[in-house]
Order: sequence, then C-alpha cells, then structure tokens
Amino acid sequence: MTMADREKVLVFDFGSQYSQLIARRIRELGVYCQIVPHDLPVEQAARAEVRAIVLSGGPASVYRDGAPSMDERVLAAGIPILGICYGMQLLARLLGGKVERRGGQEYGPARLEIEAADGLLAGLADPLDVWMSHGDRVVEMPPGFVRLAGTPDCPIAAMGDAERGLYGVQFHPEVAHTPRGGEILRNLLFRIARCRGGWTMANFIQTSVAEIRQRVGDGRVICALSGGVDSAVVAALLTRAIGKRMTAVFVDNGLLRAGEAEQVCQTFRTEYSLNLHFVDAREEFLSALAGVTDPEEKRKIIGKTFINVFAAEARKLGTFRFLAQGTLYPDVIESVSARGGPSATIKSHHNVGGLPQRLGFELIEPLRELFKDEVRRLGAELGLPQRLLKRQPFPGPGLAVRIIGDVTQDQLDVLRAADSVVQEELARFDGYDGIWQSFAVLLPVKSVGVMGDQRTYENAVAVRVVTSVDGMTADWARLPAELLGRLSARIINEVKGVNRVVYDISSKPPSTIEWE
Ligand code: XMP
Repeated sequence: MTMADREKVLVFDFGSQYSQLIARRIRELGVYCQIVPHDLPVEQAARAEVRAIVLSGGPASVYRDGAPSMDERVLAAGIPILGICYGMQLLARLLGGKVERRGGQEYGPARLEIEAADGLLAGLADPLDVWMSHGDRVVEMPPGFVRLAGTPDCPIAAMGDAERGLYGVQFHPEVAHTPRGGEILRNLLFRIARCRGGWTMANFIQTSVAEIRQRVGDGRVICALSGGVDSAVVAALLTRAIGKRMTAVFVDNGLLRAGEAEQVCQTFRTEYSLNLHFVDAREEFLSALAGVTDPEEKRKIIGKTFINVFAAEARKLGTFRFLAQGTLYPDVIESVSARGGPSATIKSHHNVGGLPQRLGFELIEPLRELFKDEVRRLGAELGLPQRLLKRQPFPGPGLAVRIIGDVTQDQLDVLRAADSVVQEELARFDGYDGIWQSFAVLLPVKSVGVMGDQRTYENAVAVRVVTSVDGMTADWARLPAELLGRLSARIINEVKGVNRVVYDISSKPPSTIEWE
C-alpha cells in the first residue's frame, strides 16, 4: 500500500480553530486524516480511499452572503459525512432544513439528553457532557433526518439520516471538554464508515521507508541536523531507509547551549551509527555577528551564514541529489486552511530546516503528513532516546537572541554558564514535564552589588520559564520560591560576571517568550 491509497478521512476546513484538533483525534483512533479546503470538488473528495468526511466548525453564519460552502455533489456521493457546529448548520441549509440565530449564544458546557443511542451515539448514555460554542442553530431538520439528541437551549443538538450516512452535531466532540467525544468519532469511523484502522507509526515507517527507497534509488541524501526533534527523526528515518547513503550535517554555530553539540554527536554517532558530519563554524558565526545589536538583523545573518556553511560542506562531501528536511503537517496546512491568511511578522523565525530552493536539491520531506505528537511517537518507534524526543523547543538563532545587544565570546560564556544552572535545576524539578521552555537571558544592564566587602558592578541575568501548549500563547511558570532562590543563589555564586538575577513574570501576549 502506498501513502496515496491508504484509507483516509477528510476534514473540510471552514475556518474552525479546532480543525487540526479534529484531524489529530481521528488519527489517534488509528485512521489517517487530512485537512482540505472546504470547497474541494467532488472529483477529489469522492475517491475510493476516502471513508468519511467531517465538515468543521467555522466563524461564519450559513445564511450570510459569501458564507463558505461546499461542492453539493459531495453530499450525494455516498460517503458518510459528519458536520460539526457550522458544518451541521451547512448540512441543514443545503439539504432543506432551517438555521436561525434564536435566543442568545451558547458557549461552554452543556448536558445532552440522548434520543437515539445507536449509530453515531451508540454506547452513550444521558446526560452526556458536551462543549458548545455557537450563536446559530438548526431549528428545522432537513427531510429524512431524525433528532438524535438535544439540550434545553438547543433542542436539535444532534441529527442524522442513517440511510444516507449524514450526521450533524452542534457541539464539539473533538475538544477535551466533551469527555466522551472520542466515542462519537469512533462510532463515525468504525460503525458508520466501516474504517479498518491501522494508522500507526509502525505502519507509517514501513510505507515511508519503501517510498523513500523507491524515490532515492541509488542516489544520496543530505540533511541538516539541528539537535531538535524534527531533524533528528528525519535523520533516523532516512538512515533506516537508505543507511549510509544518507549524510547528516551538524553545524556548531557557537550559539548552542552547554553540552548540546557533544550530546547530539554522542547520541547519533555511538547509539545510532548515523553518518554524521560535524562542522565547527563557531568563528564564522561570531565574526558575522560582531557589533550587530538588532534582533532581526541577527536572525538574517545567522540564517545566511548557516546556508553558506551548509552549502560549502555539502559540496565538499560529494554529490547529493536530495535534501531531507523536517517540514511538519501544520506548516503544510496553513497554506490551504481557510485561516491561512497573512498575519503580521513579529519575528522572522529562522529554522535550520529552512534551506532555500536555489541550492538545487530535490526535497524529501518525510514528516509532511505528521503532527508533532506523531513525530515524537515515530521517533520513539525508531529507537531515539526520550531525552531527545522530549527536548524543549530551542530557537534556530540560539543564544544570540538571548544576549540582548551584541554577541561576544565572553557574553556567550557567561550566558552558557548561567543557562546550565537553569537547565540543571529545572531538570530536577517535579513539574518539569509541564514546562514549555526554561532558559536564562543575559541583560545589557550592569548593577551595583556587594560580594565579601567589595563593591561589584556586574551584569544581570533574567530567568525565563514558561508554560504553553503551542508557543503561540504562554504564561510564566509559578515556580516554587525555594527553586527560584536556588536559581538566583547558584547563578550569582557560580557565574563570574553576574551579580543579580531577576525572574521574568510576563505572559505572551503581550510579551513574547524570547526577549528578542
Ligand atoms: P516568541 O519569542 O516569538 O517565541 O514568543 C515563540 C517560540 O518560537 C521560538 N523562537 C524561534 N524559533 N527561530 C526559531 O526556530 C527563531 O528565530 C525563533 N524565535 C523564537 C521560541 O523559542 C518559542 O518557542
């Protein structure tokens, strides 16, 4: 079986903030799921491998001019369809029911009375806790539909036409606040759509390895290893597929945390027998950064230097037809999603994976279909150690954006030493798994202190520890006071050149996670 003819479910994206979550829930149940534009034509939607379609929620009102719709022929194609929220209202409108904004908005938890506990709601009993978030609602079902469940505020909260395999729910089965939502999706997949299941990372490896082998033939592949999860998993997968014909290049830009370069090499060379080429480019980066203080300028220089170093190394290492990189599914869908519009650039994130087309390689992106949690599971299946798979995100420009102002070797040494204390102490903290990122920032502020009987005049370090789900929003971690005290005391005692430690208690927004 190839990737293309694997059984799948499609999510028609009407702009819901939950579209990705729907896809992840379905995949967790063992069925591959893709997010597609809401107006996908029937020729592409009604293919043999498509077992079911989910119509997502969305911010619009179905009766407004220009409200997003779908190719109506899909409704008659014999594929089971579940409309969620906006998706349910669209089904009602297109099939002859009625949608209205009646009463107030309904937002938050609700208790569902079940009318028909078979089909979509098989195995469930009322009252069923569900999560609502809507203004409009279906007030008249289309011909052929029966009511499956309701709440006092929303009498038609679930409806279905078993004959045609069409269903709608006003609530959101995909969110955690609908505790038994997974069973509803499971009923859709396995009772109604008769999916076989079997989307597992073990199966993914099998198909992916076969496809990589076929595509690469006897060619060679190069990839850039950053020490992060994605590039590590790409390197491991490619090595599984083509062994030594895959070469990984690790560039030490001098902006890494203490021990990081050594750790990556150790893991990959000794535990994983990867064909790893290590480049010491510390000098090159440092001289390119000399005197630069503007954060965006730093990012551009680091990005450009990286590309130059990588391209030069690749030339030295021989001829490579392919470049493998760790593009993930969320990057791919942003461009097709109804929400994928332009947004203001706050920081031009440079990622090590992002090498330009003009280098002339053909791209291999084996993680293009995967969500981050799937990449971690894939890594585990490939035998990568948990300490690598659970690594906190680390910015491409590294410590350069954690030294406010210009970057010098001395400052890098100070920051690295302070940051090691943060790493060590946090690693021992019970709540470590709930932390998104924890690090030190070197401030360009000198303050007066006293050590022994001597006056000191030295730098301040900020400690930044945040919780977050996706890095888009974040909150400062409420660390125990003893831990904060230990961080401060150890940094001031152990790191020469620092006499003051502050704890950053800003959330994102309005601040960002990094200081630059
Ligand atoms: P901000 O500071 O924008 O960071 O709140 C959000 C997340 O992105 C990381 N970050 C970067 N990652 N290149 C990267 O690869 C960058 O230039 C960059 N800047 C910030 C940051 O560590 C956090 O996880």
